[in-house]
Amino acid sequence: MEKFVVHGGRKLNGEVTLSGSKNAVLPIMAASLMAQGTTVLHSVPDLADVDTLGAVLCELGLSVSRLEKTADTTGHSSSLELKLIDETSFQAPYDLVRRMRASICVLGPLLARRGRASVSLPGGCNLGHRPIELHLKGLRALGADIQIQHGYVYAHATQLQGAHIFLGGPFGSTVTGTCNIMSAATLAKGTTILESAACEPEVVDLGNYLNAMGAQIRGLGTPRISIEGVDQLHGTQYHVIPDRIEAATLLIAAAIAGDQVILKQVPTEYLTAVLETLREIGVSIELEKSFPGHASTSRTESVFHDIRIQSGSRLTATDIIALPYPGFPTDAQAQLTALLSLCEGISIVTDKVFPDRFMHISELARLGAQVRREGNHAIISGVRQFSGASVMASDLRASAALVLAGLAADGTTSIRRIYHLDRGYDHLDEKLRALGASIERVPDTTDTSQSTPFLRGPSWSRQKAKGTFPIQEESP
Ligand code: EPU
Repeated sequence: MEKFVVHGGRKLNGEVTLSGSKNAVLPIMAASLMAQGTTVLHSVPDLADVDTLGAVLCELGLSVSRLEKTADTTGHSSSLELKLIDETSFQAPYDLVRRMRASICVLGPLLARRGRASVSLPGGCNLGHRPIELHLKGLRALGADIQIQHGYVYAHATQLQGAHIFLGGPFGSTVTGTCNIMSAATLAKGTTILESAACEPEVVDLGNYLNAMGAQIRGLGTPRISIEGVDQLHGTQYHVIPDRIEAATLLIAAAIAGDQVILKQVPTEYLTAVLETLREIGVSIELEKSFPGHASTSRTESVFHDIRIQSGSRLTATDIIALPYPGFPTDAQAQLTALLSLCEGISIVTDKVFPDRFMHISELARLGAQVRREGNHAIISGVRQFSGASVMASDLRASAALVLAGLAADGTTSIRRIYHLDRGYDHLDEKLRALGASIERVPDTTDTSQSTPFLRGPSWSRQKAKGTFPIQEESP
């Protein structure tokens, strides 16, 4: 295993570029199961989750290869070629699905294209209970026969039929559920209407990708999506949107430890709640140069900006509620909690998407944060300074929160179990180092846990350099 050693107190300065979006590329890769021929995806981030889904897709008969590196300053995003080789397989096994919940995104595409799917149930998660009954409700409404047996979802349908489906749940809509059902409905007979669909930019990106493959989807970015079924989808070329959660993380890094940081080509339209919150607590944010962005919905083009962030005097407390898009994203809640822990006054952070997503609190407390949890609220009394300590990452965004806290801490912070971070951040340590942070990735000889399925050692990197995603026996 590896850990990060962060020497706090260095001021961040300079420019940084975003990678492609994790939560957009995963359902997009899964939807490629439905394309005849070859698809090439651009701006694909270098993440363990992309590797894992690549391995799942190889198992399901695609050849998945990384192409040339792009010339952007991140140096890691690359293009991915997905070619259909064999459509006889329909099983996504437990051994791969347990490594990443988003593997469930293959369910809808497999069912729609191959008539059956057998996908292991994703199992437990550090964010709390994460059911998938809305995915199953939607697919059943399209005519699928679905059974849960021996830890697997078995789905079967000779021909899916369009339907009118309500996707609202107790915590709002479902992001990957909307992806699954929207993907399946593209090959159903007739019209499907999704009500209370997720409006997240990543769902819109998947919809735009499906349309580029020949689907007929309207209403993307609204809670009412309509899909006119087509007979088949074809391979295409597609650019994945930039990662708004990586953007939020780097914005918060700049607020917590920055002098002057410029974030390049940011999809500001997707970040309104984050930018508003940071401005409210006193961070200076200027939108500079603008660029035409990607197609944002079927009808509109988005605009990207370079953003200049300056954080001067002590910032002030605020209250935020994590909500479905366009609300403040739950995926940036832990990072903001780290920042608010250093702001003057009392802040209340509420998570209405994942009410149990507070594993980071006890580790932040080891650095000196004063946070009390009450139900789905974190009540934060701002302190003047963190002091470095040894902490343990519990999930992807909690890891990021600890890294940001370490940047601001007095002394040295070691963050263990960073395999969580490598799942969803494209070389965050390198990006922070380029901004002047002192952050090293070193072997963690003290952690003998056998629990990581995500370790990415040199042999995995060499396999990737060769451009293939073989099924790997991961280190335990
Ligand atoms: N929910 C249900 N029933 C369902 C599905 C979801 O009650 O059938 C509940 C969940 O328990 C949760 C809420 O609805 O309380 C939202 O869950 P959702 O299904 O939208 O989450 P997801 O699709 O599993 C995606 C992202 C998460 C992100 C959430 C919310 C991907 C691969 N994952 O998960 O990303 O937090 O949407 O925006 O897109 C992350 O990147 O760190 C991450 C966890």
